[in-house]
Amino acid sequence: MVALTEKTKKRLTMQTVEIAPQTTAIRSLDWDRDRFDIEFGLQNGTTYNSFLIRGEQTALVDTSHEKFRQLFLDTLKGLINPADIHYLIISHTEPDHSGLVKDFLQLAPDVTVVGSKVAIQFLENLVHRPFKRRIVKNGDRLDLGNGHELEFVIAPNLHWPDTIFTFDHKTQTLFTCDAFGMHYCSDSTFDEDLKTIEADFEYYYECLMAPNARSVLSALKRMAELDKINIIATGHGPLLQHNVDELTGRYRTWSQTQAKAETSIGLFYVSDYGYSDRLAQAVATGITKTGVGVEMVDLRGGLDLQELRELVGRCAGIVVGIPPASGAAHIQAAISTILGSVNEKQAVGIFESGGGDDEPIDPFLSQFRNLGLTPAFPGIRIKQTPTENTYKQCEEAGTDIGQLVTRDRSIKQMKSLGADLDKALGRISGGLYIITAKKGDVSSAMLASWVSQASFKPLGISIAVAKDRAIESLMQVGDKFVLNVLEEGNYQKLMKHFLKRFAPGADRFEGVRTQPAENGAPILADALAYMECEVISRMDGGDHWIVYSSVYAGRVSKPDALTAVHHRKVGNHY
Ligand SMILES: Cc1cc2nc3c(=O)[nH]c(=O)nc-3n(C[C@H](O)[C@H](O)[C@H](O)COP(=O)(O)O)c2cc1C
Repeated sequence: MVALTEKTKKRLTMQTVEIAPQTTAIRSLDWDRDRFDIEFGLQNGTTYNSFLIRGEQTALVDTSHEKFRQLFLDTLKGLINPADIHYLIISHTEPDHSGLVKDFLQLAPDVTVVGSKVAIQFLENLVHRPFKRRIVKNGDRLDLGNGHELEFVIAPNLHWPDTIFTFDHKTQTLFTCDAFGMHYCSDSTFDEDLKTIEADFEYYYECLMAPNARSVLSALKRMAELDKINIIATGHGPLLQHNVDELTGRYRTWSQTQAKAETSIGLFYVSDYGYSDRLAQAVATGITKTGVGVEMVDLRGGLDLQELRELVGRCAGIVVGIPPASGAAHIQAAISTILGSVNEKQAVGIFESGGGDDEPIDPFLSQFRNLGLTPAFPGIRIKQTPTENTYKQCEEAGTDIGQLVTRDRSIKQMKSLGADLDKALGRISGGLYIITAKKGDVSSAMLASWVSQASFKPLGISIAVAKDRAIESLMQVGDKFVLNVLEEGNYQKLMKHFLKRFAPGADRFEGVRTQPAENGAPILADALAYMECEVISRMDGGDHWIVYSSVYAGRVSKPDALTAVHHRKVGNHY
């Protein structure tokens, strides 16, 4: 039997901290959360944060993930008798924050649940029992007494349709749940060390918030109307206190860039507490990688059909998560509106939601095809519980549609280099390499020549990876990969194989001889040498990430052979 090391042992712990007068953070620390959702890519665990505010009356903001059932409820009982809590504020109904609502209602049957209209509807389906409720709108207030006057801010799509923020005027704390969060587990309650958390903060934004950039900007506008915010009490990771202006500023800058994207794709789906949200999110991540804006729309929320028509009209492409065949009338109306507003210049992609009750995919895609739209990827069928590979397939499909709608622009940009400069740049040459990576069950590979040794101590290399490469999501900080060196005179076969256009989710190693490296990534049997590497940092190089990695193991299989060299004529191609 293998002994559990500190790293592989699953650890769940609790932390309670007074973060402001009469305000306690109850943090569920999930040190080794499995990577499943895309936004957990950096693998630093996560936390689920809940808060207790005690005025003359008491409110609990959110609960925790159901895996913390015992720990969370025991901790809460150590602080207060749950039956004495007057309000349970639901920032949104995603199970990692609302997983214990049902248990909590058993302990506090008289509590009034406070949430947006959509949240309360979702909750009814979740808890299957009557409960007291108060539906809040933007600007509504709830006075707990003793100065704790709460004001609610409607923040739809951050990142669930039913999201609200809660601002306590006494402590100037804004409770934002998913927004401004990050998956980062540490004992630090606050964000004192920006350097250690900023990569996770940005990665989380990219995955969850970038596809809703316009909604982020609307929420920031509403936040600006509040008094000065001292603390942003997020639902995941450290709370923001030391860098509130800096980090909200970053959200603003990133979202403005996204919202200004010349081209955007509308992504329509029906959220269902599960797969369909994650699948849609994976597609959105893939689109975002291409620099194309995404407008995500949950067809379940109260939609204005005229707005929907306008949105569809201004998009270069649309992606639809097939709604349930038994969907409500307003969902069917939304789908008819989409079908009635598309035009033949648009690209289209379809994915099944995985609920087992989906409309058949082919007739649905045919309807779009008959209207003249160009399919950007084969319809994604979900026959079993989605796996990491399914999400990767969705991400790659998103990238395909993003690349399709920007193809003409990319070609034009490539042609616009001055001829002399282009030729001069073309004199920079490199070797030929295949990068291979494996993370969980997902693997990928790409041919690269922009590879260079970058440091002696530590031993390090740099690789320029285009932001829309499939392998990019497996080359995050902390990820491990293999650099395979191709051999002069013996590289054509491998080069040709890896330059093929792979369909989303395709196995890139089919027909290629490999063996796993210590770090799990495939070593190509026909490579001249290989090195095992770990990503240390990534620098933003415009359309590429400059990925700096340490090299910690390696071997040459043919000591006398030389590395394949790639000579170019021009600088605007590899
Ligand atoms: C000679 C050559 C060198 C390349 N070098 C790089 C590179 O250094 N970085 C990069 O991002 N792509 C590079 N590419 C492009 C990718 O290998 C290839 O187009 C890519 O694998 C396909 O995109 P995908 O993996 O996202 O499907 C190169 C292509 C060629 C033909």
